[in-house]
Amino acid sequence: MSHRVALLPGDGVGPEVIAEARMAVDALGLDIEWTELPWGSAHWHEHGRMMPADWRETLDGHEAVLMGAVGDPSVPDHLSLWGLILEIRQRLDLWANLRPVRLLEGIPTPLAGRGPEDVDMLFLRENTEGEYSGVGGRAHQGLPIEVGIETSVFTRVGVERVLRHAFELAEGRRGIVTSATKSNASRFGYVLWDEVAEEVAAGFPDVRYERVLVDALAARMVRDPGSLDVVVASNLFGDILTDLAAAIQGGMGMAASANVAPGSAVPGLFEPVHGSAPDIAGQGIGNPAGAIWSATLLLEHIGEPEAARALMAALEDVCRTGPRTRDVGGDAGTHEVGEAVASRVAELSARAR
Ligand code: IPM
Ligand code: MN
Repeated sequence: MSHRVALLPGDGVGPEVIAEARMAVDALGLDIEWTELPWGSAHWHEHGRMMPADWRETLDGHEAVLMGAVGDPSVPDHLSLWGLILEIRQRLDLWANLRPVRLLEGIPTPLAGRGPEDVDMLFLRENTEGEYSGVGGRAHQGLPIEVGIETSVFTRVGVERVLRHAFELAEGRRGIVTSATKSNASRFGYVLWDEVAEEVAAGFPDVRYERVLVDALAARMVRDPGSLDVVVASNLFGDILTDLAAAIQGGMGMAASANVAPGSAVPGLFEPVHGSAPDIAGQGIGNPAGAIWSATLLLEHIGEPEAARALMAALEDVCRTGPRTRDVGGDAGTHEVGEAVASRVAELSARAR
C-alpha cells in the first residue's frame, strides 16, 4: 500500500535531523510518497506568515506529517509557534501528545545508579487546551498598571477524552495511570480534572489510578522513575515534565513525540521534542535519534507496525553500539548516526527476507 506523508523540516536543526529520519524510513523499502513543505521562519520572512493560508487543505491529503522543529531568533517565539505548531495542534484537534520515555541501552542518564530497566514511562499530554488555550489579553500597555492575563481553559470533553485514553493505554502496559494535578492550589481547573479522573478510573478496575501533585511528581520522576507507567498531564504540566523526562532518557535529542487525535482520520503530526536548537544548527552535530524515534511512531500511525518495530530495533542497536552524537557521549555527527541507522535497517530487512 502506498502512503502519503508530509515532511515539514522547519527551522534550525529541524532539516538536519529530518533528512536522517527520512533516509532511515526510506531504507525500509515502503512505498511512501513524501511532500516537502517549506514552512517555517524563512516562509514568514518571505510571505509574512509561517505557513500558507491553505495549509489545512494541503495537509488533508496526507496520512501524517513528519516535522523537525520550528523557531528562529529572528521571529518572536509566540508568533512563530502560534503561526505553526500550536495552530496545527489546535485546528486539527490533535488532542493527544504521546511521548514515550525509555532509556535505551548505551545512552547515559544523569540519574546515578539507574539503567534502562528503571525507565519506561509513557507520557500523555493534553494538547489543545489548558494553559495553551490562547485565551487572554493585555490592557494598559506600556503604563505602570499594565496587565497580561492568560486563562487556562479546562473543558469536561477535553479532560475526559485524554484521561480515558490514558487508561486505555495503561491496559496494554503495566496497568498504572498517574495523573498530574495541582488541585491543592488550583480551585477550578484541576479540581474538575480530578473529578473526571475519578469517574473515568471507575470504569477501569484493572488499572491502578493515582493522583499526584505535579511538584511531587517531578521529584518522584527523579527519585523513582520505575514506579511510573502511563503519566497523564495537562498541556503545560506535560510540557514541563517531558523535558525532565527527556533529560532522564539521555537528553532532549533522544525524545520523540506524536500529536494525534485517536479515533479520527486527521493526519497525525510527529516531531522530536527538542526545539530548533539555533545554537548548534548548521553544524551537523544534532542528535537525529528523537526524529527517527518519532518516525517509528508515525509508521505505527499509518498502519505499518512491522516497519515501526524494525526501525526502532535499528535505532536501539545503533544506540547500543554507536556511533552516537556528542550529547549522548559519542563524537559522531548527525549524518553518521543517520547512516548507521539506515544501514542497520537494510541489514535487518535483508535478514528478514
Ligand atoms: C513542545 C514544545 C512546544 C510546546 C513549544 C515549541 C511551543 O516545547 O512540543 O514541547 O510548548 O508545546
Ligand atoms: Mn516542550
